[in-house]
Amino acid sequence: MRVIARDAPIVVLTGAGISRESGLATFRDKDGIWAKVRLEDVATPEAFARDPARVHAFYNARRRQLRDPAVQPNAAHLALARLSQEWPGGVTVVTQNVDDLHDRAGTANLIHMHGELTKARCTACGAVMPWLEDLSLDTRCPACGATGTLRPHVVWFGEMPLAMDRIYAALDACALFVSIGTSGAVYPAAGFVAEVRGRARTLELNLEPSKGSQLFDEAIHGPATVLVPAFVARLLGPA
Ligand code: APR
Repeated sequence: MRVIARDAPIVVLTGAGISRESGLATFRDKDGIWAKVRLEDVATPEAFARDPARVHAFYNARRRQLRDPAVQPNAAHLALARLSQEWPGGVTVVTQNVDDLHDRAGTANLIHMHGELTKARCTACGAVMPWLEDLSLDTRCPACGATGTLRPHVVWFGEMPLAMDRIYAALDACALFVSIGTSGAVYPAAGFVAEVRGRARTLELNLEPSKGSQLFDEAIHGPATVLVPAFVARLLGPA
């Protein structure tokens, strides 16, 4: 990859693949989350209306896993955090992930377009608050006092992703778009490369070719903990 000008803005999109080597499952790999549970049963507004206890149990288990000491930001998260802090042209990291590993790595200018496992939202008063414990129908909203109205602050299928204006503004301004650890299966994130190609250089870093791999100027395949530190070192110099 031709190195870009140091004052050029960068947008990085990440998906579940960047957290795989931290011990968190992806969605569509053969051992992924959707191989074990149907998304229609746990990740849609209709599922939550139909069986809220089941949806809470699904997200409670994933939220608890984030508190496992074995689950830590990996070398890819840390390298990306360094790039976001040191790149003169500015870096916007747009993650589809709802885990908190980019946050814990110290990533600057981070957008969680699919929400965050470590936050809850009240469907009665709209308050969004940090939340590390289990949620249930007995949970009381600390903001308005209602009971049973809290849901994971996670974007479900059929719901609008968050901060899309901010994301498209960053895509419009960027000179380099890098996609890391995502299958390119879910829109609007899967459409970002088509949005910028021809105007910005595009690079895919993924274990295997994604669905949109042929849209990228360059695609390098391998584990994120190898590819991302090497990519950041090429831009910033060795750590
Ligand atoms: N390093 C780099 N890439 C990896 C690694 C790894 N160690 N392990 C897996 N991958 C790649 C896989 O090859 C795959 O292309 O990460 C990608 C993960 O794809 P998905 O499981 O589809 O996850 P993602 O693209 O993030 O899904 C997007 O779908 O279910 C919804 O809301 C959910 O945010 C999620 C969205």
